Amino acid sequence: MTDELIDDFGRRVSYVRISVTDRCDFRCVYCMSEEMTFLPRAQVLTLEELATVARAFTEMGVEKIRLTGGEPLVRRDIDRLVDDIGVLPGLKDFAMTTNGASLPKFAGRLRDGGLKRLNISLDSLDPERFRRLTRTGDLNKVIAGIRAAREAGFERIKLNAVILKGRNDDEVIDLVDFARAEGLDISFIEEMPLGDVSDHSRAETFCSSDEVQERIQTRHELIPTTESTLGPSRYFMMPDSESRVGFISPHSHNFCDTCNRVRVTVEGRLLLCLGNEHSVDLRAVLRRHPGDIEAVKTAIVRAMPLKPERHHFTTDGDVQVVRFMNMTGG
Ligand code: GTP
Ligand code: 5AD
Ligand code: SF4
Repeated sequence: MTDELIDDFGRRVSYVRISVTDRCDFRCVYCMSEEMTFLPRAQVLTLEELATVARAFTEMGVEKIRLTGGEPLVRRDIDRLVDDIGVLPGLKDFAMTTNGASLPKFAGRLRDGGLKRLNISLDSLDPERFRRLTRTGDLNKVIAGIRAAREAGFERIKLNAVILKGRNDDEVIDLVDFARAEGLDISFIEEMPLGDVSDHSRAETFCSSDEVQERIQTRHELIPTTESTLGPSRYFMMPDSESRVGFISPHSHNFCDTCNRVRVTVEGRLLLCLGNEHSVDLRAVLRRHPGDIEAVKTAIVRAMPLKPERHHFTTDGDVQVVRFMNMTGG
């Protein structure tokens, strides 16, 4: 079967985000609740099942795979999975989103395994504030991780910063300056209403990309580009730097009409949209027909008509999706 994956709105799925674990060594306030518990191992796809899913997608025209979590680097033997996916024919971009803390240990191995790009979360440059936002994170470890990734030769490393009003919105210029000094790109993300995080009221902390952009423009000229990583970011260049600044704005600049991606959750649910529950249980197919890649491909093709036209996130503070981001694959 070589079907291309096209949904009912004519959008071709070329990008899959695969969550390899719901666990994380951080507990960022916008992602998890403090008392979060994690799934029993039997419910999580095995490394072999994950590799089969990745292969099925690439055989149907998927060109970009991103491993997410939770924190992908806390999954045991993650480097073996990277080796298996890194050799899949047809894959043009292979990336991971990580909190960065384990990169001093893993960066070289991941690069050798064929991983091309890394996105690293960084919401503050102040160690105490960083700890408060991540609840358990150590800023120095993350900075060491960023540097290890550069030394390992990753092409374009991107920082991700979720901006919350009153918590870190005063740091956006410092974050851009850090990205410039380190030769990295940076994206600013509007917080999405996934899971009841109980730490703060999302209506109060919402900070639109336009506000962030205006603040940055008081210091740096931002020139729009048409560049794309097949992701949701709108990118800007600065005249005196190689670094790019991106904005991921699910609220203020909805990008659903060009959506090219689906997700596989940690339990093997093929999720057609971040903001809806339409899904197909790939784990059931994998366990009913072990090793049968055609069965997986058939299930994926059949799922395409379920992809909804758009999400309906609002900024009024309501939880619109009960699933937390770490289950979904941030
Ligand atoms: P690039 O490959 O560098 O473009 O990465 P990316 O921005 O697609 O991935 P990353 O994992 O860095 O995602 C950054 C943020 O964008 C995360 O908070 C994601 O949840 C969010 N995001 C990614 N894809 C989507 C999407 O389809 N819809 C929405 N609403 N948010 C998304
Ligand atoms: N809204 C927006 N981004 C989020 N992330 C995690 N939870 C949320 C949320 N509720 C981001 C992290 C990281 C990526 C994995 O997802 O900051 O960059
Ligand atoms: Fe962990 Fe990333 Fe969620 Fe933070 S945002 S708790 S680093 S999965």
